[in-house]
Amino acid sequence: MSPSSSSLLLLFVIILSMIIHGQSLFFKKTRNKIKNVVGGKSRSNTEGLHTEQMMLFPNIGFQGKDNKWRLNVLGWRFQPSKRTKFLGQSSSKISERLARFFADSNQIVYYNDTFQPDRLKPFMVEDRAHEEILIMIGKNHNFTTKTDSEGQFRTSFIMPNDDVQKLKKTIKNDQVITYKAIGDNEDVWEGKIHLLDWRGLSVISDIDDTIKISEVIDKIRLAANTFIHGFRVVKGMPEVYRGWKDKYNCSFHYLSAMPDQLYNVTKEFIDDQKFPDGTFHMRHFRWSSISIFNFVHSADTKMHKNYNIRYFIRNSLRTLVLVGDSGEHDPEIYGNVTREYPKRIHQIFIRAVKGEAKDDKRFFKAFKDIPREKWLVFTDPIKELPKDLNLKLPISI
Ligand SMILES: *[C@@H]1O[C@H](CO)[C@@H](O)[C@H](O)[C@H]1NC(C)=O
Ligand SMILES: *[C@@H]1O[C@H](CO)[C@@H](O)[C@H](O)[C@H]1NC(C)=O
Ligand SMILES: *[C@@H]1O[C@H](CO)[C@@H](O)[C@H](O)[C@H]1NC(C)=O
Ligand SMILES: *[C@@H]1O[C@H](CO)[C@@H](O)[C@H](O)[C@H]1NC(C)=O
Ligand SMILES: *[C@@H]1O[C@H](CO)[C@@H](O)[C@H](O)[C@H]1NC(C)=O
Repeated sequence: MSPSSSSLLLLFVIILSMIIHGQSLFFKKTRNKIKNVVGGKSRSNTEGLHTEQMMLFPNIGFQGKDNKWRLNVLGWRFQPSKRTKFLGQSSSKISERLARFFADSNQIVYYNDTFQPDRLKPFMVEDRAHEEILIMIGKNHNFTTKTDSEGQFRTSFIMPNDDVQKLKKTIKNDQVITYKAIGDNEDVWEGKIHLLDWRGLSVISDIDDTIKISEVIDKIRLAANTFIHGFRVVKGMPEVYRGWKDKYNCSFHYLSAMPDQLYNVTKEFIDDQKFPDGTFHMRHFRWSSISIFNFVHSADTKMHKNYNIRYFIRNSLRTLVLVGDSGEHDPEIYGNVTREYPKRIHQIFIRAVKGEAKDDKRFFKAFKDIPREKWLVFTDPIKELPKDLNLKLPISI
């Protein structure tokens, strides 16, 4: 069965079951959910191997001019192993099918059975479409949202400043607020929102080939670096980022074209290498993509990065430092946004990964009309990236 026909069938089954269950059940369930969660009767999310799961991606909350906060929640609801059962296929069959998404058939032989199971697992799941999710922030704020056809939910809530101040916690100089997301099975998951002041410094950093060696421009190596080898750090980057964090108390935002199915392993990498914690803005891998290579190189990647950077600009007065690499379109994307908002982008740093000269024509074209001192192409983070970002703007209020 082709992936598109199987997901169509899946969708059909889900729609059918929704009609049978009826809408009123949703409301009844939500009420029960709240009751049981508050009454401590909710089930633990570790119960059972094949129960539904959730991934909650750390996101941002901005304080508006009216003092109220807009808190963004992004999550994904899925059920492990259901897909395997559903298609009546063994997991090795699934791996093989998956491998085809990540490589051409003539390359599969190269990967063989070496894919790491924990990295593959989040792809071998069934998205939970159109499921109601209850979000609880503190005791007084309950919101409901629904997953889309691919199990994702993306929503934002407005909260008064007083309530946010009462609920916020400080973790390593970051101000965060946690929330609970509760699914249909009354399983409870905890998510995190980083609170950002109206002003301040935010470092927006790409991941692959900027802080982690992924070799995105090489099809085979990209898949191998993503699914087989241990993640390798770009030496010196953790030290530079920690230095900026200590000096400027800035927030970090990891903006990546990679599938958010890889969030767990990516977050582990960030923690293991002692990069500053931050928010994660990855993309959901859809089975309609032809391969991981095409996924990362698609036009959507440009849109994803453009959209997220502009989101920071439009929703705050924060000053941004953009860090990326020359493998993809980072120079052009960062150049475009900097020409559009010259006052908001303080610096651009590009890691040269193709062996090109640092004064390559491409960079002068990408950063046309941008003051030369605002952008830097580097290969050695420790030697070339400045410890002093030369910030004169008010970075905190
Ligand atoms: C690939 O797998 C086959 C059998 O599944 C095995 O015989 C072969 O040695 C493997 N090749 C490599 C390079 O691991
Ligand atoms: C949220 O749900 C809890 C549990 O039912 C309830 O005690 C609380 O009043 C609700 N809050 C709001 C604002 O509805
Ligand atoms: C860092 O910034 C946060 C606001 O995001 C603030 O609460 C905290 O006090 C600051 N820490 C230092 C050391 O300036
Ligand atoms: C992701 O990591 C969390 C925390 O370590 C864990 O509870 C969860 O099961 C992991 N999810 C997946 C899909 O691996
Ligand atoms: C940058 O802007 C130019 C001109 O508007 C546009 O043609 C180009 O596609 C943009 N590049 C990226 C990577 O967004």
